[in-house]
Amino acid sequence: MAHSLSPVARHPDPPPASPSVLICGQLLDFLADPGGVSDTEAYRHQVNGALWILDGRIAAQGARETVLAHIPAEILARTQRYDYGEHFVLPGLIDTHCHYPQATALAAPGKDLLDWLNRSIYPAEAKLADPELAAQRAEYFLERLLAHGTTTASVFATAHAHSVDAFMAAAEKRRLRMLCGKVMMDCCTLPALSENLEACARDCNDLIDRWHGRDRLRYSVTPRFAPTSSPEQLALAAALLRSRADLHLQSHLAENPAELAAAALRHPGRRDYLDIYAQYDLLGPRTIYAHGIHLSAREEAVLAESGTAIAHCPSSNLFLGSGFFPLARRHAAGVRIGLGSDIGAGTSFSMLRSLHAAHLVAQAQGGPLSPWQGWYLATLGGARALGLEHCLGNFEIGKEADCVVLDPFALPELAARLRQRSATETPLADTLFALMLLGDERCVRAVHILGEVQQPA
Ligand code: GUN
Ligand code: ZN
Repeated sequence: MAHSLSPVARHPDPPPASPSVLICGQLLDFLADPGGVSDTEAYRHQVNGALWILDGRIAAQGARETVLAHIPAEILARTQRYDYGEHFVLPGLIDTHCHYPQATALAAPGKDLLDWLNRSIYPAEAKLADPELAAQRAEYFLERLLAHGTTTASVFATAHAHSVDAFMAAAEKRRLRMLCGKVMMDCCTLPALSENLEACARDCNDLIDRWHGRDRLRYSVTPRFAPTSSPEQLALAAALLRSRADLHLQSHLAENPAELAAAALRHPGRRDYLDIYAQYDLLGPRTIYAHGIHLSAREEAVLAESGTAIAHCPSSNLFLGSGFFPLARRHAAGVRIGLGSDIGAGTSFSMLRSLHAAHLVAQAQGGPLSPWQGWYLATLGGARALGLEHCLGNFEIGKEADCVVLDPFALPELAARLRQRSATETPLADTLFALMLLGDERCVRAVHILGEVQQPA
C-alpha cells in the first residue's frame, strides 16, 4: 500500500487552542478485511510514521517528516509530542464481548457453561446488588482493560440498573468509547437476578435516557441469552431496540450443546436457535452475539444476510470446553466477526492472548490464523462488528484517536524469536505473527485515548 500523506481534516470548528498531539512510531492499520496471507492491499504500514491528532481526532497520518512538515508552525509549537521509535502504533484494540462483573471471577469452577453459570457466575453477579461494589468492579475492569491495550469494548453489566450507572460513569471519566447494557433475565436464574417485566422496561428506558449518546457512550440492549429470557422479555428487548434508531444489542448464541437444548425448551416451536432471536426481530447490523459455534448452514446464512455479527471468544471456548468456532467457514460465508475476551469465561483481558487462542482453535480445524486476519479482527474487524467503523478501527482522517503502542521486543522469548527471522515470510508478516502468538500485555508500552496518554493507575 502506498504511504501517502492523508490530507488535513479538522473536527468541525475546533476551538482555537484545541489539543494538538503528535505520536511517532511504526504505524499499522487496516482499511479492509484481508483476504489472505499475501494480501498487502488491506493494510497500511509506515516504519517512520506519525499521527497528528487535533481535538481528539486523526488530522493527518503518514511518513513522519511529511506529517511534521504539514503542521502549521504555530500549532507545532504547542503540540504535545510522543516518540515511540520502532514500536508499533496501532488503533486501540477492541474487545467485542466481555462481562465487567466477572472480572474478579476468572478461572472460576464449572464443568461446562451451564454448570459454571449456576455454580460460579450468577452468585458472583448477585453480589453487585451493592452499588459500592459495582463501582469498585467497574474501576478495576477499566483499569485492567486499558493496561492490556483495549480501548473499546462491548460490555455486559449485571441485572442491577446501578451496575450500568457504575460502568458508564467510570468510562465517562476516562472519556472511553464503550457499549454497555443491563443484563435482562427473568427465568432460570437466582431470584436476586430476576426482574419482572415492568421493572425491567422502566430500568432499561431510564438507562438509555441517561447514558445512550452521552459523550462516547452507547447503550446496548442486553438480553443474557434465550434460556434465561421469557418470550415476553425478548419482545421487550426488541421494543427497546426499536425505540431509538442507533441502539445496539448484545447477547449469546449457540455456545454449548446443553444451552441449545435449554433454549429450545424455553422457546418451543422454532426451527433452530437463531430463529428464536429472529422471531423477535433481534438480528441486524448493530446486533452482536457471542460465540455462534453450534450453528447450521441455514443459521450461518441468516447471520450473513442480516448483517448480524459474531464475537469470536476463543479463550472462553477453550476454558469452558464449548467447542471450536469455525472462523474460516463463517468468514467465507460473509459473517461479520470480531474478537472477544469474554471475561470471565475468557482467561485473560488481552486481545493478544485471544489471538493466540484463536490461532490454536483455527489450527485444530486445519488452518492457521494469518497475522493480517488476526490484527484486523482485533482492530477494524472489531469496530465493524460493533457498528462503530465510522469513528474507530483505523487511522482514517477524522476518526477518534485511540491507539495502543506495542513493543515487539518487550519479552525475551519474543525478542529472541524476532532475531531469528523466518526465511519464507516477509519481516512484517513474521513480526506480526510472532507478536500475535508470543506477545501479551507486557508488550503494551502506552495507550492514548483521543490522543491523550493514559496514566497507569
Ligand atoms: N451465556 C449466558 N451467560 C453467559 C456468560 O456470562 N458467559 C458466557 N461465556 N456465556 C454465557
Ligand atoms: Zn459472554
